[in-house]
Amino acid sequence: NKVKQYKEKILNELKRVFLDESNVLKHATDQNPYNVHYQGIKENHLNKYRNQLVCEFKRIQFTVIRRSDEPFKSNYLRDLIPKKKFLDNRQYNSCAVVSSAGSLTNSNLGQFIDSHDLVLRFNHAPTVGFEKDVGSKTTVRILNSQVVSKSEFKFLEDNLYRNITLLAWDPSNYTSTLEDWYSRPEFNVFTNYAAYRRQFPKSKFFLLNPRILWQLWDFLQSNSPSRLRRNPPSSGFLGLAALLPRCEYVNVFEYMPSTRVTKRCHYYDTKDNPACTFGVWHPLAAEKLLTYSLNIANDTTTFDRGFMTLLGFKRTNC
Ligand code: C5P
Repeated sequence: NKVKQYKEKILNELKRVFLDESNVLKHATDQNPYNVHYQGIKENHLNKYRNQLVCEFKRIQFTVIRRSDEPFKSNYLRDLIPKKKFLDNRQYNSCAVVSSAGSLTNSNLGQFIDSHDLVLRFNHAPTVGFEKDVGSKTTVRILNSQVVSKSEFKFLEDNLYRNITLLAWDPSNYTSTLEDWYSRPEFNVFTNYAAYRRQFPKSKFFLLNPRILWQLWDFLQSNSPSRLRRNPPSSGFLGLAALLPRCEYVNVFEYMPSTRVTKRCHYYDTKDNPACTFGVWHPLAAEKLLTYSLNIANDTTTFDRGFMTLLGFKRTNC
């Protein structure tokens, strides 16, 4: 039937992109901006049981920068880092990860997304004007350091970033210490982090420990037989890593592109960007294929309604 045919097509496309990239990478010696040196195994995750993959994923402790971490312990940021834990270490029942994909357009998923106990969104993805398809509730936003630091995103002014939990990330090099990262962030996330925390002292705004990016990358690479793009995983994959330890189950919207897929990158874009959904910079095809291996939703839900369901880490005994 239609869904089955579409499923074959999209999975083949993801595999094709992934293998093409690996072939390009075999010949590229200069594309290693983060100085990644991976020595570990490269297995095919398709040969593993879901539980085995979950147990490997579960070993990655999703951590944010704490007051006790150097160099923050000894600089002006110490007192600006919240004492509270990320999401108060609370457990949620149902969680929604809303990728910003163009295929959310005409999905009618808004009400269903809003029915989740926690809703995670990314970067400057709006809800106003898009409620029918993406909902209006936001519990957490994961922000890359460009959104926090570049004036065009109006991070300190826009209501989009108020009264919710925020988590910002910026890539370090593969083996960098926090000191190295602090002195040479990719984009200066720290100035506006401090400004926001001063302006809203009660806010729940955290910085991801950049080690996590490379632990997630290692996890992806160790489960991919071919070489991965040596850039950090996308925010979408970070969202999963943030929520799987805290939710009974996580519904991930339009990360696996549904039958509504178009050439548009984001539901809020006006122009096309065909390379975005399958990945140009992040190891996106590998992320999506691995996530699909953890999916328990049926084909109609995944490819027609447009979301995958992953069980929270608590539900798997390792
Ligand atoms: O582009 P941006 O990073 O803001 O989008 C948020 C996340 O949604 C991405 O990091 C990616 O994981 C996911 N996404 C996707 N397909 C798209 C657009 C975004 O999977 N077409």
